[in-house]
Amino acid sequence: MSQSNPWDQGDYAALAGKLQPAAAALAAAAGPGRSRRALDIAAGTGSVALCLAERGWQVTATDGAEQMVARGQAGTAAAGHDVEWAVADLADQPVDAGSIDLVASSFGMIFAPDVPALMAEVARVLRSDGELVLTAWPEGGYIDGMARAMAPFLPPVEGRPNNPWGSAAFLRETLAPVFAEVDIVEVSLPWAFPSAARGRAWLERVSPAHIAAKAVAGEQAEAMMDAVEEFLARYADATGRVYVDAAYLVVHARRRGGSEAEAAAPL
Ligand SMILES: C[S@@+](CC[C@H](N)C(=O)[O-])C[C@H]1O[C@@H](n2cnc3c(N)ncnc32)[C@H](O)[C@@H]1O
Repeated sequence: MSQSNPWDQGDYAALAGKLQPAAAALAAAAGPGRSRRALDIAAGTGSVALCLAERGWQVTATDGAEQMVARGQAGTAAAGHDVEWAVADLADQPVDAGSIDLVASSFGMIFAPDVPALMAEVARVLRSDGELVLTAWPEGGYIDGMARAMAPFLPPVEGRPNNPWGSAAFLRETLAPVFAEVDIVEVSLPWAFPSAARGRAWLERVSPAHIAAKAVAGEQAEAMMDAVEEFLARYADATGRVYVDAAYLVVHARRRGGSEAEAAAPL
């Protein structure tokens, strides 16, 4: 991907701060690494990679956006970890077949344009007893609601429903060919804004997804952001402050045969 990647717009690091608790929850679901190999895909600025490294995983982190990789690399190095970074598409990872114990992706796999190609790549890189952890925004949750508020102003993506990963049925069906066990837990991420207008302004400044959506919406961009502000205002209290419990899903899947291998592994 080139430097004109839309994910390099805005100030993703600021948004990553709001998503940080999900990265920590994902790493906690993965458990201790004991020097096993983890691959964080669509890693952004490295929130998950860092949490996994802190838990003893040997981490490779990849993202399709060059600036994300540059920032992530600097961040994990500053924290004193030897995380390997590379620019890579979700469905084309620079690691050997069967070399990875854990694939992790926080709000990253959900952007795959070609889900079968992504799942084939996850299956290729994982060991026979490997695991997958990912986060997604559930149907009916806050982020799903915001996407629905924006959708009337954006062209539909042909053949692809909005937010399929938010459905437990989609998750189970998509993961079933590779993974025997799939646990899905819903967790809440608290977000707050001083007002709906300030929330809108913050999203317009930092969020690559909102900046990209505005470009696509063209003349409808302001109307779309008005809809975002109205959506945020639904969560305002009597003082006008916005408090949101943004539900997200933590998904933990074990490859076929993985639980038996795990039971036999030394502590
Ligand atoms: C919402 S961010 C999540 C980043 C990070 N996992 C986190 O939790 O902060 C989504 C990331 O997916 C990456 N991404 C989107 N589509 C991609 C693709 N096809 N291949 C690789 N990365 C992709 C973007 O560059 C961005 O860094």
